Amino acid sequence: MGSYSISSLPDYFKQYRKSIKNPKKFWNRIATENFEWYQHWNKVVEFDMEEAKITWFKNAKLNITKNCIDRHLATRGNKTAIIWEPNDPKEKSQHITYNELHGRVCKMANVLTDLGIQKGDRVCIYLPMIPELAITMLACAKMGAVHSVIFAGFSASAVASRVNDCGAKLIITSDGSYRGNKVLELKPIVDEAVEKCSSVEKVLVVKRTGGKITLKKNRDVILDDYYPKASKDFVTKIMDAEDPFFILYTSGSTGRPKGMLHTCAGYMVYVAYTFKNIFNYEENDIFWCSADIGWITGHSYTLYGPLLNGATTVMYEGTPTHPAPDRFWKIIEKHKINQFYTAPTAIRALAKENYEWVKKRNLSSLKVIGSVGEPINDEAWHWYNDHVGKRKCPIVDTWWQTETGGILISPIPFVTPTKPTYATLPLPGIQPVLMDEKRNEIMGNQAEGNLCIRFPWPSIARTIWGDHQRYKETYFTAFPGKYFTGDGALRDEVGYYRITGRVDDVVIVSGHNLGTAPIEDSINLHPAIAESAVVGYPHDVKGNALYGFVILKEMGESRDKKNLEKEINQVIAETIGPIAKLDKIQFVPGLPKTRSGKIMRRILRKIASGDFDNFGDTSTLLNPEIVEEIKNARIEN
Ligand code: WT7
Repeated sequence: MGSYSISSLPDYFKQYRKSIKNPKKFWNRIATENFEWYQHWNKVVEFDMEEAKITWFKNAKLNITKNCIDRHLATRGNKTAIIWEPNDPKEKSQHITYNELHGRVCKMANVLTDLGIQKGDRVCIYLPMIPELAITMLACAKMGAVHSVIFAGFSASAVASRVNDCGAKLIITSDGSYRGNKVLELKPIVDEAVEKCSSVEKVLVVKRTGGKITLKKNRDVILDDYYPKASKDFVTKIMDAEDPFFILYTSGSTGRPKGMLHTCAGYMVYVAYTFKNIFNYEENDIFWCSADIGWITGHSYTLYGPLLNGATTVMYEGTPTHPAPDRFWKIIEKHKINQFYTAPTAIRALAKENYEWVKKRNLSSLKVIGSVGEPINDEAWHWYNDHVGKRKCPIVDTWWQTETGGILISPIPFVTPTKPTYATLPLPGIQPVLMDEKRNEIMGNQAEGNLCIRFPWPSIARTIWGDHQRYKETYFTAFPGKYFTGDGALRDEVGYYRITGRVDDVVIVSGHNLGTAPIEDSINLHPAIAESAVVGYPHDVKGNALYGFVILKEMGESRDKKNLEKEINQVIAETIGPIAKLDKIQFVPGLPKTRSGKIMRRILRKIASGDFDNFGDTSTLLNPEIVEEIKNARIEN
């Protein structure tokens, strides 16, 4: 591989300036020097921010698996590509070399071909963190099928809505999964989902737990029946730069799932580039990102980013505290991890445990530690710095989104001086701007506003699958000509960014991105409920927790409230998943609404977080008296 590293702060500023002055030249060089292409592009970038049409590396031909696997075989064939650490510490971990990975991916691609999958078909993958998750994704990539990984904690109806939205022909799942002390059955969830999915022709089952499963004739197949016989030869599909690569669903402000589409070339270039620089990756480093591959973090920095750089990446199947609260630290010690990347919610949870758990483990292999998914508070930042990084490892607080494909704002280790709770500076090629409510750009430092990005970067999602209009409206209309992130941010006196949190109806709970609208839709399915409003409020471990304000129908008034609360959470768990359950439920006689009928969520957010100081302008409310009433009955703890 060529070189694209940033070596010092002056070098960062130099490269940053160049990347803004001439983005085409900047990305042209990186893409040319660091990847294998079947055919060069004839234009680096083309875009229309009004129509939300973006093209990178037009007419280039490539396959990401050539760059993730094949090109490493000559020099790194016997190097470990993936270390798989099982849930049970007594079970043996797997070390999969690049050679083995190549063979397993080819075989898998042949299995998928036998099941009728071709270039352009969508394949939903609903698997726990086992090697087959990575292998099936890579197999899809190799054959040009579009994978859509669905986090294996989602309920049957959440699975069904995603499968239907993308029209998947095949679902890949397992009999079950191990998570801590629990064995979860996955196949029955898929069975229930597929009842509602007419596009699905086959279900491929990977055996993990050995649990009893029922197979539907002509639809369900067991991987073991195909895999051993499959050939190790597979002809890689040649992909166009802008061919669909994968779809990943994220939350939005309506109940309909929002399938972000990433394309082949831009995603590859940006993710490889950011992985190398943000984690200061050097040959033979062992990298561990603890995120589940079902989220974008896992796609970009557990799987594709490391493999593109020929790195060794760790995949862990279990939970941070299984069988004891030192599991993460034990994994770092066992595999001599050099870069560790996790979420603030995990840091806060582990910081609550006895300090001896982390102190007893040898973490001296660590060089860089990272944080992602939500703002990291001061206390958690310092605990991470003191006890995990031992004040020797720079913390990279990386800000980005499912939509951005890769990290946009982050310190570069040993280059950017870190500042607690700040994501610091944009990566080369990234132009953040702060906008005020009147859509004016806020110039100068020491400012706060809505975070937008001025110019497209290679890994920006190209559309929402099947709904380009929604893509345009969600991201490109609030601030015309710019990509709107949905986050608020402040810029300090030296130009460092700190992300202050969502300014829309998305709440980040334990690092999970949840839309309040789909949760409300789900609550309203309960026959005793007339209407509901869900907001986030600060929580010391989860970052945010969910508070529901619920109006009962008359028939609900006489019901036992504790039972109702349980039922509400049960509906949510069934329709979305347990991660979206409410922490507090308050039954209210009404909701504060504007004359146009819009719920004034700003007030509910303040009440939920116990901040009664200043409700701002309530003059547009139809029913201002309801505010006092809700406030007085707020659920404390
Ligand atoms: C939202 C995106 C990016 C991968 C994981 C989440 C929040 C993400 C940070 C950070 C403050 C952060 C934002 C963003 N977020 N990283 N370092 N500091 N907030 O991806 O599920 O698409 O969520 O996560 O609010 O918009 P996602």
